[in-house]
Amino acid sequence: MKRALVTGGAGFLGSHLCERLLKDGYRVVALDSLYTGSRENIAHLAGDANFEFAEGDVIGMDKMDLGDFDEVYNLACPASPVHYQARPMYTTDTCIFGMKNCLAVAERCGAKLLHASTSEIYGDPLVHPQTEKYWGNVNTIGIRSCYDEGKRIAETIASDHARLLGTDVRMVRIFNTYGPRMHPQDGRVVSNFIMQALRGEDITVYGNGSQTRSFQYASDLIEAMRRYMELPKETVAAFVAKHSLGAPVVNTGNPGEYTIRQLAEEVLRQIPESKSKIVEKPLPGDDPKKRKPDIALAGELLGGWKPAVPLREGLAATIEYFRGRK
Ligand SMILES: NC(=O)c1ccc[n+]([C@@H]2O[C@H](COP(=O)([O-])OP(=O)(O)OC[C@H]3O[C@@H](n4cnc5c(N)ncnc54)[C@H](O)[C@@H]3O)[C@@H](O)[C@H]2O)c1
Repeated sequence: MKRALVTGGAGFLGSHLCERLLKDGYRVVALDSLYTGSRENIAHLAGDANFEFAEGDVIGMDKMDLGDFDEVYNLACPASPVHYQARPMYTTDTCIFGMKNCLAVAERCGAKLLHASTSEIYGDPLVHPQTEKYWGNVNTIGIRSCYDEGKRIAETIASDHARLLGTDVRMVRIFNTYGPRMHPQDGRVVSNFIMQALRGEDITVYGNGSQTRSFQYASDLIEAMRRYMELPKETVAAFVAKHSLGAPVVNTGNPGEYTIRQLAEEVLRQIPESKSKIVEKPLPGDDPKKRKPDIALAGELLGGWKPAVPLREGLAATIEYFRGRK
């Protein structure tokens, strides 16, 4: 039986990944500091003999004995601005030391490593849609920098490790992903709008709401991650060479582009009993105006992978989850 380590396994995406790995017949260890994740997210997995939860910090993972693994998935990192800005130094440390410690496990075990990077490495992009070859437009000293730059240096560390030591690294740059088990207070746009609509509070749109975002449903991302991890190292290396990528990195996201105002309107349409109104507030610092993934490379590498869940459907499932939590 294959063994997988999922850092950040009690988080939103980590819990979905653990669930999928168990279904795929893995023995899974989820490591999580519970900073933004919760035991509730993985409570339904607790009875599975192949699942183990290790409460701990990825920053100190080098001092833990978690056993040997065939696959390491590095998802540990606060992902919402509210949480990463509350503890910026912790966020940067998590990115750097978490990456180093995961690489050390992969090197020791000869395991494959899949790292959850982010579209935030493109910053406030000057190129649309963003391809993997775009180097980004990132502020080094802003309030988002702990996360954006943390994720950038994590990619650098992983790329150097792979080049120098031959570590089998794969990276996904994840664009906005939503779904059940998102933290209801994480300040991200989908959870914000749904919670505001369910509580009958004003739906706050920053600026005039014309900035665009793309929204990927969690199961589409997990499918991409699993397909990526299943590929032989040689296939990934050949793909990197063919496209002169420099390192094994692909975007994953849903290229459907919506304005923030359109999202607010769709949430209200799906919660017809809501008394909420859409109101405008000033834009926060470094808020990207436009975000849209180019997922052509992921499609080619991952056997024709593309997002399968439309926004309406994904929102309906997410709203159902949040209804019990308002
Ligand atoms: N959801 C998205 O839209 C999105 C987009 C881009 C990238 N990502 C990346 O995907 C990963 C998972 O994000 P998510 O949306 O599930 O967020 P999340 O906050 O729900 O999950 C992150 C998990 O990591 C844990 N964690 C944080 N720091 C840790 C540390 N030092 N040691 C151990 N555990 C730690 C948290 O407790 C949490 O359970 C993150 O790395 C994030 O950067 C997510």
